[in-house]
Amino acid sequence: MALLKVVFLLLVAAEFSQSQSFHMYSCPTPSLQVNFNVTQYLGTWYEIQKLPAMFERGDCVQAKYSLLPDGQVRVHNSELLSNGKINSIEGTAKILDPTQPAVLSVSFFRALPDSPYMVLSTDYTSYSLVYSCSDYLGLFHIDFAWILSRTRQLNSATVSQLRDKLTAMGVDVKRLSVTDQTDCGAMVSA
Ligand SMILES: *[C@@H]1O[C@H](CO)[C@@H](O)[C@H](O)[C@H]1NC(C)=O
Repeated sequence: MALLKVVFLLLVAAEFSQSQSFHMYSCPTPSLQVNFNVTQYLGTWYEIQKLPAMFERGDCVQAKYSLLPDGQVRVHNSELLSNGKINSIEGTAKILDPTQPAVLSVSFFRALPDSPYMVLSTDYTSYSLVYSCSDYLGLFHIDFAWILSRTRQLNSATVSQLRDKLTAMGVDVKRLSVTDQTDCGAMVSA
């Protein structure tokens, strides 16, 4: 069993090393948004830049967060595919540790492990910097990052401040890709 696990991890590592989000050793421990208030964070966010995520290939990527009656957050992500179709996925997010409200755990499928969703910096009304990292036995980690905005465009000064924060954490910002947020008319209803 142990050997199978190692072989599996190596396969996962090989897969992710192609995507350049794979790194040796454990996840970094970034500083989080202080006094994070999830209520003010609800609503729609548009993806401006991201660390390559293989499962998101569309344009006009957006996320809508709303409160569920049980206090969890409903996550509705959508994107416009090149064939003009809208692809969307729903999940839930919850705060696991009330002393760390800026760390949410997001799940999309029961079969997949939950991913951390760490809000590093947000002013709630214009920008948000989100980081996610999963650690595999302390041997390697895979990370993702998103620069989000309340509007489809974010001013370049804010974008470069957020990229500087990632650089300070040791993230290679050259790996960030820019999300096309033009001609998103079809997404109005998403
Ligand atoms: C979070 O924000 C909401 C909406 O502005 C506010 O009503 C609530 O008191 C805030 N919670 C805390 C703990 O500050």
